[in-house]
Amino acid sequence: MKKVFINGYGSIGSRISQFIKDDPEIEVIGVGKYSPDEKVNRAISNGFSVYVPENQKDSFKNYKISGTIEKVLDDCDLVIDASPSGHGFLNKKNLYEPKNIKAIYQGGETVYGEKAVSDLLFNSRVNYKQAIGKKHVMQGSCNVTGMGRILQPIREKYGERLLRFDIILIRRWADLEQTDKELKDTIEWTENPHQADDVKSYMGKDTPLFLRAIKVPTRQMHLHILDIRFKNSPPDLSEFLDIFKNEYGVAILHTAKGTKEVRDYADSMKFSFKDTNMIHIHANMLESIGDTIKMMYSDDQTGIVIPENHLLMQALLFEKTYDDAFKHSEELFHMGEKKKILEEHFAKK
Ligand SMILES: NC(=O)c1ccc[n+]([C@@H]2O[C@H](COP(=O)([O-])OP(=O)(O)OC[C@H]3O[C@@H](n4cnc5c(N)ncnc54)[C@H](OP(=O)(O)O)[C@@H]3O)[C@@H](O)[C@H]2O)c1
Repeated sequence: MKKVFINGYGSIGSRISQFIKDDPEIEVIGVGKYSPDEKVNRAISNGFSVYVPENQKDSFKNYKISGTIEKVLDDCDLVIDASPSGHGFLNKKNLYEPKNIKAIYQGGETVYGEKAVSDLLFNSRVNYKQAIGKKHVMQGSCNVTGMGRILQPIREKYGERLLRFDIILIRRWADLEQTDKELKDTIEWTENPHQADDVKSYMGKDTPLFLRAIKVPTRQMHLHILDIRFKNSPPDLSEFLDIFKNEYGVAILHTAKGTKEVRDYADSMKFSFKDTNMIHIHANMLESIGDTIKMMYSDDQTGIVIPENHLLMQALLFEKTYDDAFKHSEELFHMGEKKKILEEHFAKK
């Protein structure tokens, strides 16, 4: 059985480990912690062995640690790195490459320049096959993953008819669990947001995508405002919506009024971590004006990348076909069922 280590147990690492520990094809050999805090015991009570950096062992003496990260990686097939932005690159250089271990990196890393962790930014909807045979691959961030799920079906259907995509990312300030992180009473704008280049890394650098990003004081998802301009007249809205009907990880909602309402419903339905793991098109906000279709969709910031990591893990470890990997991920994530539950609750009245 393949051995997987999850390095980092924050918003993303804790979710990935909780979901994939139920995968009978792999063994989660442990999780990496870097601060001696209450999350160490939480990880242990969730059934994980906790490993810490060699040079910080002493600060964990009051916890039941299973050993050091350096040592556990000597017998490991793949690491899912879930460290804070930029640390994935350092871990690659200091740990994974010297030990010749395959690794998945998260969206805070980059595929450009000297600090690139990989030459492939993964989006299962676009480039699953390209991950097969690779050793180091970066999973796109939540916004980048979400844009792929929306833009790719539009490109496939309308190709040459498309003129440009203009998108505003309204980003959440913090995650639900980051209760120590204060939400500042301000709207911040982001200079040179990385998300457009990240999307272009898998859709092509000439993709006519123009992006602006702001950050607002909420923990409840991201919202993308997307204008799609067509060379001539756009398709009618029901035909346009139809392309997402059978899309994986995309729910079409008609009556939601805000992101918290969607998350609260996910919570009331006992979805793990209150996550929907998907994109929600807000069909009540869809408009067609002149040559442009205007749409809004919300993006479950923490949840959306978790099934993607599982799909990518299967490409790297088992070189499965997309269909086989997809089928197996569905057994853990039940995305089809969740989509149906959300769509029924937020159906047109
Ligand atoms: N949060 C999201 O919504 C989201 C969505 C998509 C992608 N991402 C990306 O996922 C990555 C992780 O983000 P996150 O939100 O999960 O961060 P987070 O909640 O701050 O968690 C980071 C974790 O990494 C651990 N860590 C610290 N130094 C480390 C190192 N050198 N190597 C490995 N792990 C280390 C931390 O350990 P201690 O707590 O023990 O110090 C913590 O458990 C980032 O690249 C981020 O951009 C985040």
